[in-house]
Amino acid sequence: MAEHNEAVAYPVGLRLAGRRVVVLGGGQVAQRRLPALIAAGADVLLVSPSATPSVEAMADAGEVRWERRRYEDGDLDGAWYALISTDDPEANRAASAEAEARRVWAVRSDDADAASAWTPATGRSEGITVAVLTGRDPRRSAAVRDAIIEGLRDGSLTAPHFRARTTATGTPTATGTAPGQAAPGHVSLVGGGPGDPDLITVRGRRLLAQADVVIADRLGPRDLLDELPPHVEVIDAAKIPYGRFMAQEAINNALIEHALAGKTVVRLKGGDPFVFGRGMEEAQALAEHGIPCTVVPGISSTISVPGAAGIPVTHRGVAHEFTVVSGHVAPDDPRSLVDWEAVARLRGTLVLLMSVENIGAIAEALVRHGRPAGTPVAVVQEGTTAAQRRVDATLATVGERVKAEGIRPPAVIVIGDVVTIGTGTGR
Ligand SMILES: C[S@@+](CC[C@H](N)C(=O)[O-])C[C@H]1O[C@@H](n2cnc3c(N)ncnc32)[C@H](O)[C@@H]1O
Repeated sequence: MAEHNEAVAYPVGLRLAGRRVVVLGGGQVAQRRLPALIAAGADVLLVSPSATPSVEAMADAGEVRWERRRYEDGDLDGAWYALISTDDPEANRAASAEAEARRVWAVRSDDADAASAWTPATGRSEGITVAVLTGRDPRRSAAVRDAIIEGLRDGSLTAPHFRARTTATGTPTATGTAPGQAAPGHVSLVGGGPGDPDLITVRGRRLLAQADVVIADRLGPRDLLDELPPHVEVIDAAKIPYGRFMAQEAINNALIEHALAGKTVVRLKGGDPFVFGRGMEEAQALAEHGIPCTVVPGISSTISVPGAAGIPVTHRGVAHEFTVVSGHVAPDDPRSLVDWEAVARLRGTLVLLMSVENIGAIAEALVRHGRPAGTPVAVVQEGTTAAQRRVDATLATVGERVKAEGIRPPAVIVIGDVVTIGTGTGR
């Protein structure tokens, strides 16, 4: 006869949508388990004289039906699954016995040995559910679960799609690829954040780890490129030859060419792809060729670079707005789309990108249109990187200070009273 190992459970994924699940006890255990039961669409009946505020909120929202009383024999009638977690051991024992008699799988928070089912340590990443059981060592289960989820998130554990891809929101979309058939090329426009490699999103990092080809900007987390395995082709976007094309068109063509060759391509961009990043132009070019594209938002330098230099773009009682402006064309340039007169009238924070060259003319225009000359200004160069530096000035002095200090792009320029909050630095 085969030997039985009591510590071995048979794993299964319960499809609970519309099926009755009875939860006995409204304390911390219920609070932890209810969200997953609700997410699975279970018809949850909670029986408990009291509940934590979070559990109560789920009942108030109509996500579970709550009967405010103690457990009674018969409560498990019609249940498919039960979670027994009252603070009364006697009630737990009685409910366990009822579950056994009715053949309802039941977990027990107070006595795993007496339960007919165990809750695995679970986690989800990009449509994958990870469930880990290690016999009677829940902390070890949680540690294994964390390692797997972490690996899936940072890309060190790869899980290629064979039947579906996911969109930016994580919703699966059919690719029409049969199992075993080569998937068509795919491009991800990934916002890499301001430069510090830790400031890319989890999703961006995972996609980077899955790439065959990476086309990277000069700005963004360039240190991450060194970590890519040798087979990954890394292309510097600034060095793509563009002959009779515009540089952007040449980048679009490179993306299209690699995707049509069946490659998994990441277009790694600085900050967020849609903040002065031409991300939509690339997405449109790919769409014209029917190439699937995922857009991954990034941490924009507009907020993170001031933050890294100790400047909050808003502060209670100081600034109720912040406005982001590109200064890549001077205020008197007919190509400028900015109404500098209107901008000068704003009282809140101004965040200028691509403005190092024109800051003298911009400051002069702001003062001419009414912003006080003494308004504090901070210039933050290469924010979030090891080379970060900050220079303080006023609207009256910033043009000269930037020249004298040899400030070079990339820099974010912050104008407004928030500049002096928390630092008290002189100018
Ligand atoms: C073409 S825009 C791209 C902005 C980017 N998409 C974002 O969301 O941060 C480039 C400008 O962003 C700013 N910038 C980006 N990264 C920066 C950094 N690490 N430090 C300072 N400024 C930065 C500079 O003003 C630079 O000229």
